[in-house]
Amino acid sequence: MGDLIIRQAGLGDAEGIAEVLQEIAAAGKRSRPSDLSFATANYLTHPDQLRCAVAVRGGCVLGFQSIRIAVEGNPYGAPVGWGVIGTHIRPSAARQGVGRALFRVTLEVAKARELAAIDATISRNNAEGLAYYSAMGFVDYRSHHGAVCKSFTVD
Ligand SMILES: CC(C)(COP(=O)(O)OP(=O)(O)OC[C@H]1O[C@@H](n2cnc3c(N)ncnc32)[C@H](O)[C@@H]1OP(=O)(O)O)[C@@H](O)C(=O)NCCC(=O)NCCS
Repeated sequence: MGDLIIRQAGLGDAEGIAEVLQEIAAAGKRSRPSDLSFATANYLTHPDQLRCAVAVRGGCVLGFQSIRIAVEGNPYGAPVGWGVIGTHIRPSAARQGVGRALFRVTLEVAKARELAAIDATISRNNAEGLAYYSAMGFVDYRSHHGAVCKSFTVD
């Protein structure tokens, strides 16, 4: 099966990231765009991006985690200066510790950037997403429009 490698994503990972999004969409867990240009613009070249880490095994991108800086007027309504996190793992690789491994790396980035906290905004109906962020130590701090916002305080 090979080792799980966590590394910073580069432009060459756009296809792998899009494939992860498409597998999640095919499983009925995503309705937002999942194409190559969306993957590139949202996770690889976005101006607010601090880091996008990919989890790779045997040359296959199993999942990725992005962290952005919350700027004035950010669409998540997160406090300015916080990190905003997003995590996507192929359903075929779920519950194998990939998300946990990615968060270890993202947290190091948050510490290095001296972020006060990280926001995770999750649909109220997304039980696995809510359970994952709770398991990583995030706690509820507000909710809006069918979403639950969890925060992680960076020490
Ligand atoms: C939610 C998601 C990121 C979890 O990633 P993952 O790699 O499967 O998570 P891990 O295997 O590292 O699990 C870490 C912990 O999270 C919790 N967890 C993860 N998935 C869970 C599930 N389906 N049900 C209950 N708890 C879950 C568990 O506590 C787990 O620890 P354990 O397996 O030792 O009990 C992944 O399922 C996913 O990408 N889902 C679709 C996209 C999404 O909803 N993203 C999150 C909102 S942006």
